[in-house]
Amino acid sequence: MTNFTKLEKLKEALASTEKNLEWQKQSLIEDNPDRDKLIQKLEKVAEDLKEKINRFESNNIEEQKEEIIADKVSDEKAKISKKTVSKKTAKLEPVINDSDRNFLNVGEKPDFEDGVKGLKQKLKRQKQLTAKYSKNILDGDVITTENYQPNLDKHIIELKNVRKSYITGDLETPVLKGIDIILDKGDFIVILGPSGSGKTTFLNIISGLDKASEGDVFILGSNLTLLKDSHLTKFRRRNVGFIFQQYNLLTNLTAKENAEVGENLSSNKENAMSIEDIFTTIGMAEQMNKYPHQMSGGQQQRVSIARALAKNPNILFADEPTGALDEEMGRKVLEILVKVNREYKTTIVVVTHNPNIAKIANTVINIKNGLIDSLEHNDTPADPRTIDWS
Ligand SMILES: Nc1ncnc2c1ncn2[C@@H]1O[C@H](COP(=O)(O)OP(=O)(O)O)[C@@H](O)[C@H]1O
Ligand SMILES: [Mg+2]
Repeated sequence: MTNFTKLEKLKEALASTEKNLEWQKQSLIEDNPDRDKLIQKLEKVAEDLKEKINRFESNNIEEQKEEIIADKVSDEKAKISKKTVSKKTAKLEPVINDSDRNFLNVGEKPDFEDGVKGLKQKLKRQKQLTAKYSKNILDGDVITTENYQPNLDKHIIELKNVRKSYITGDLETPVLKGIDIILDKGDFIVILGPSGSGKTTFLNIISGLDKASEGDVFILGSNLTLLKDSHLTKFRRRNVGFIFQQYNLLTNLTAKENAEVGENLSSNKENAMSIEDIFTTIGMAEQMNKYPHQMSGGQQQRVSIARALAKNPNILFADEPTGALDEEMGRKVLEILVKVNREYKTTIVVVTHNPNIAKIANTVINIKNGLIDSLEHNDTPADPRTIDWS
């Protein structure tokens, strides 16, 4: 290895270590001595790497000659991965029993003005209600601003009068213009629409990555519109998994270790699949110890599915998950999503602009210009191996 590539490797290792550190710091599992030790360890690794990079960059290369950097880095990493947080000491979140949940209607909405002024009034009211109710919602209360009562037994997602606007200058740009929808537990749902129609905005709002400007967004009974940011983060960690077009894997962790990161971020350990089972499901049992750069894009995307599944999420969200893949790999990823839906009953929500992909769903939401154009149910979803691919 030339010194230049060594330096690049060190920098890459540092970036990944820092990212991992960030993940661990955000972990839901608090007051855990194991986690604190892991963080200290990672901080030490990051410090050492920084020092090495400094020495390299100050041209003091002689000292480095004997060091096989890659091995060092993987040694450290092996030590770290053995120190993953033990399940026994993890603080489990309380399980909310549906019959114990209180229902509350916050009362009549005031009359808001039009345009930016009205939008600001709405956001101000939302902020006040959030301060008052966010904690209760996180603890299981069902709270509506739209005089709407969701059916928690049957439906996993219920939206009432959901709007999202951005303010650009003194103009209001509406993106979602009043969405009402009810979706059943265990469905395979596709959100279909042309580019710019609002699909990603819609997905971000129902997955807790972004917040509506107005309306009720009941996901598993929690009205996400009234959750403050830190509670939204907790909600996401407890309940949902994500797959993005870009796979977002940590480069200095193996496939298996990447999946374990997902597992550590979760509190939903009950009935969780083992990492080994997950890799069998995604057809990559043989590749568990490979690093991202040793895998194709399709394989990396499958590892990102493994990471999401390791959390045992109630809902799996995917935004254009095959957007960066060729046909063969794209079909494979869709096949795995279908399998996960069938075998583990995980509710799956996939965003796509490709009508062929919508054929594999049993529920298709057609979205057009910020509104739902139609909601279709399909009793005979197609096999991803047989759909047209263009
Ligand atoms: N932060 C933002 N500020 C202003 N407009 C936005 C913002 N994010 C998205 N939009 C607009 O919202 C519309 C829908 O975007 P998006 O949800 O990404 O659509 P899709 O995923 O269907 O392509 C687009 O016209 C986009 O320009
Ligand atoms: Mg999009």
